[in-house]
Formats: sequence, C-alpha cells, structure tokens
Amino acid sequence: MEINSSNYTIYIGDDKLSSVQYQNYSQIAILVDENTKEHCLPKLLESNPSLKKAKIISISSGEINKDLSRCQIVWNELSQSHFDRNSLLICLGGGVVCDLGGFCASCFKRGIDFIHIPTTLLSMVDASVGGKTGVDFLTLKNQIGLFSNPQQVIICPTFLETLSKRQISSGFAEIVKHALISDKQYWELLLETDFSQTDWKEIINKSVLIKNKIVEEDPLEKSIRKQLNFGHTIGHAIESHYLETGKEVLHGEAIALGMIVESKMSGISQDDCNQIEQFLSKNIALPTLPTFEELEKWFIHDKKNSSGKIQFSLLTSIGKCQENISFNQQEIKKYF
Ligand SMILES: NC(=O)c1ccc[n+]([C@@H]2O[C@H](COP(=O)([O-])OP(=O)(O)OC[C@H]3O[C@@H](n4cnc5c(N)ncnc54)[C@H](O)[C@@H]3O)[C@@H](O)[C@H]2O)c1
Repeated sequence: MEINSSNYTIYIGDDKLSSVQYQNYSQIAILVDENTKEHCLPKLLESNPSLKKAKIISISSGEINKDLSRCQIVWNELSQSHFDRNSLLICLGGGVVCDLGGFCASCFKRGIDFIHIPTTLLSMVDASVGGKTGVDFLTLKNQIGLFSNPQQVIICPTFLETLSKRQISSGFAEIVKHALISDKQYWELLLETDFSQTDWKEIINKSVLIKNKIVEEDPLEKSIRKQLNFGHTIGHAIESHYLETGKEVLHGEAIALGMIVESKMSGISQDDCNQIEQFLSKNIALPTLPTFEELEKWFIHDKKNSSGKIQFSLLTSIGKCQENISFNQQEIKKYF
C-alpha cells in the first residue's frame, strides 16, 4: 500500500526495502541503535544488498539518549567520512532513531536527504509520519527540533516480530489516540480486537491514514494538527517527570495515562471515561500517576502554551476532538 503525503510517499508492506537506490546518492549512512542493529539491520541488508556499502552509525537505545550529545556523534561520523550534500541518512529504528536521525540529517550541511524505516509499532503509526524531528533538552521533551520531511517512509510490519510485548503496547497507545480523536468506528473495532492474534498491517494502514490526513491539512501545527496532542500535555509532563527521576516509563505508557486524565478533563460522559480507562489499563502497563505538584513545572514548558495559559486538545465525544482549550493550573489540579 502507498499513501502519498505532500512531498513524500509512505509505503506499507514487507517488500519495499529494496526500493532505496544507492546510485542516487554519493554516500549512504544507516542510523541504528544496538537493538535495531541486531534485529533489523540484517533484514534490511538481505533485502537490499546494495546497502552493504553503507556506513553504519550506532547510538545507544532509549529516550535518555535522544539528546544533542548523540547528535554530535552522528554529525561527527558524517563529517569524518566526508558526507556531502548529496548523501542520504536512513533512520532504521523506533521513534528515538527517527526523531534524532531526521533532525541530524536536516541540520547537517543545512540538510541532506533522509528516509525513515520505522521498526517499532509506535514509530510505524506515528513518529515516522508528519515531519516532526528533534531531541529532548534539559529533560524537556522534543524541546529542540524542526519540521522536516523524509524522502520516503518504508513501513515493514515484519520488523515487529522481534519487538517486546511491552514496546508493542506502548505503540498501541498512539493507535488508540488516533481512534479517539477522529474515528468512533475505529475505536469500536479496537475494543473488539484480540491483540494477541492481530494482523497489525491493517491497523497500521488505518492509523497512518488518519495521521497523514491531519498532517496534510495542517503541516505546521497551527490548528487541527494540535488534536494529535490529545493525552500529550499531561503525558509529556509524566514522561519528563520520570525521565528526571530515572524510572523507565515508555512514551506510549505515559501518553496512555495522559489520555485517561485528559478524557476526564474533556467533559465526555462518565461511561465513556470509564470505558477508555478500563481499555487502556487492560492493554497497557500504566505507570503510577504522579501528583499534580510533581508535574506542575513541566506544564509550563508545553509547546502548545500561549500567553501563559496551558492549552489542551480534548475530546468533544468519542471520535471527535477540539484543540486550543485553555486551563489554568488550579483547574488542572482538580483532576489529580
Ligand atoms: N516525531 C513524531 O511525530 C513522534 C510521534 C510520537 C512519538 N515520537 C517519539 O518517539 C519516541 C518513542 O519511540 P519508540 O516507542 O519507538 O521508542 P524507541 O525508539 O526508544 O524504541 C523502543 C525500543 O525498542 C527497540 N527496538 C526498536 N525496534 C526494534 C525491533 N524491531 N526489534 C527489537 N527491538 C527494537 C529500541 O532499540 C528501543 O530499545 C519518543 O521519543 C517520542 O517522543 C515522535
């Protein structure tokens, strides 16, 4: 399946890895972390032997490494190997590799081409689509970054075979978000799905279509794209809090908890809130909700804020969302 975005194509299928053409570039580097190097790189090289000539750049895995010091490692490697402007960086990994790699490529020599080959469920349905690149700074999520589109996104669901159950359910949080903000029927389908048996390809197609449609309408997040932040104002604060305390909480786990709190803030019916909470608690290992006081300082830095007010994207009903809803700190506190 092919989905066209403004100036790039998203391929979904296990037969597309050979489509990267080495001869179009002077040099190619492949960015991996230690897990994608072990589990995904061999599959890529087997499907596309021309990439055996590519330079492999490896960073350590995990959100803690999505920072400027790892960008320096990438830029250093590219510079040492004399990569020019006609080079390509392939980001082979989860959201950390895609966000950081896209950012590094977009800044190197004012921008070289990059291709995302996402290898986690989360990066297949969300992080690889939409052109957001960047890194964390001072434990603030995605504080430094830019909008920059890849040349292509190649989504191969077979990469999920080596992904842990915990990582699969973290990615599932963003799928739930897509359904809750824009498609009630999709939500009802998810409620009935047995995830131990599921064929992720169909779900990936649906989620990428939703994300891509929203991004196409508002690429720079001036209006409707903010709806993709449902669950993220609280969720990013939770993620930052746990990044600072050193406890490992996955992105989707923090967002799932954020969606439970923000559903309550949405003012949708108690029954709908209970259904969302029960479904997320059943399918995702939720972290403990920090206290309001522990999260307060992180709300201030949220990128959606305007004139000192904290802005949320909240559900108006299941399948519909509204951006730019302001709350002050005291109003948020009532939900903790
Ligand atoms: N740019 C965006 O629009 C966007 C959207 C959502 C999330 N994000 C970002 O994405 C990041 C989270 O991404 P993630 O959940 O993919 O985390 P991740 O990149 O940290 O990957 C999770 C773990 O799985 C391992 N892994 C990856 N693929 C594997 C495979 N096929 N087999 C075995 N192990 C594998 C990785 O090494 C890592 O340890 C966060 O930084 C978040 O901010 C970005």
